[in-house]
Amino acid sequence: MRGEVKMLERKPVVGISLKMYQNSIEKAVLFAEKMTELTGAEDAIEQFICPEMGTLYPVSSIVKNSFIGLGAQNIAPAASGAFTGEFSINTLVEMGGSYVEIGHSERRTLFNETDEMIFKKMALTLEKGLTPVLCIGEPEKSSNVEWMRQYLERQLFLGLKNSDAEKLEKVIVAYEPVWAIGQSVAAGAHHIWKAHTMIRGILKNFFGNEIAEKMRIIYGGSVSKENIGLIVSEKDVDGAFVGRFGHDPNQYSAIVQEVKKVKKGQLKVYNREGDIV
Ligand code: PGA
Repeated sequence: MRGEVKMLERKPVVGISLKMYQNSIEKAVLFAEKMTELTGAEDAIEQFICPEMGTLYPVSSIVKNSFIGLGAQNIAPAASGAFTGEFSINTLVEMGGSYVEIGHSERRTLFNETDEMIFKKMALTLEKGLTPVLCIGEPEKSSNVEWMRQYLERQLFLGLKNSDAEKLEKVIVAYEPVWAIGQSVAAGAHHIWKAHTMIRGILKNFFGNEIAEKMRIIYGGSVSKENIGLIVSEKDVDGAFVGRFGHDPNQYSAIVQEVKKVKKGQLKVYNREGDIV
């Protein structure tokens, strides 16, 4: 309906990864304290933080009394055993963590993470009752819609195959086109909207309408407080996975507020042509 936003059943979600930028306990703690002060009482938007792995524990004690969830940027494909240098999901659980980022393009490319490994991490995360954030996205910008659909379908299939249908509702899919990560601008809103609708369609084919309508699909790749309003104004975009442009807590907080305003219908909404309606 023009000019109106229907209340969504899916709770909007904004996550932030500090990658390896806030790479000291002092920096991570300062960030988490400020983030908690600014957005920790906000429960209209689900939020999570994935700090640099060595800072998970101190950050866990800061966010634990807020609405901000704790997530790991990576876990080992098994909960225990001979996995030198890896990080166990059990430790994350002990710290009160509830989100696991899986299959980020930096892990797929820099650390040669295979689809098989990604699937094992997905299965383990669901088995432990945590929320996986499955990152998918095509490697290059292309106008070939069919190629893109097949690429995303394959990543979704390999990440989610054989998963217990009931547990799938928990999964957050992060659409992160590789070519839009680490850039000065995000992918264009039309591209993002098209991709999210495509992903929802693929999920419907795989798991049926009911489950697919419950799964959150968020966008990541150079998200900022300037571009997020337009990006989330499409109903299939359920939020954002924020990187560098949220590494200032004030900017992060502005992104959360922008998502809230758009999803609660307090801000002008754009149509598929990018015009304000
Ligand atoms: P960026 O990172 O916003 O810094 O591009 C996003 C991501 O990798 O999730």
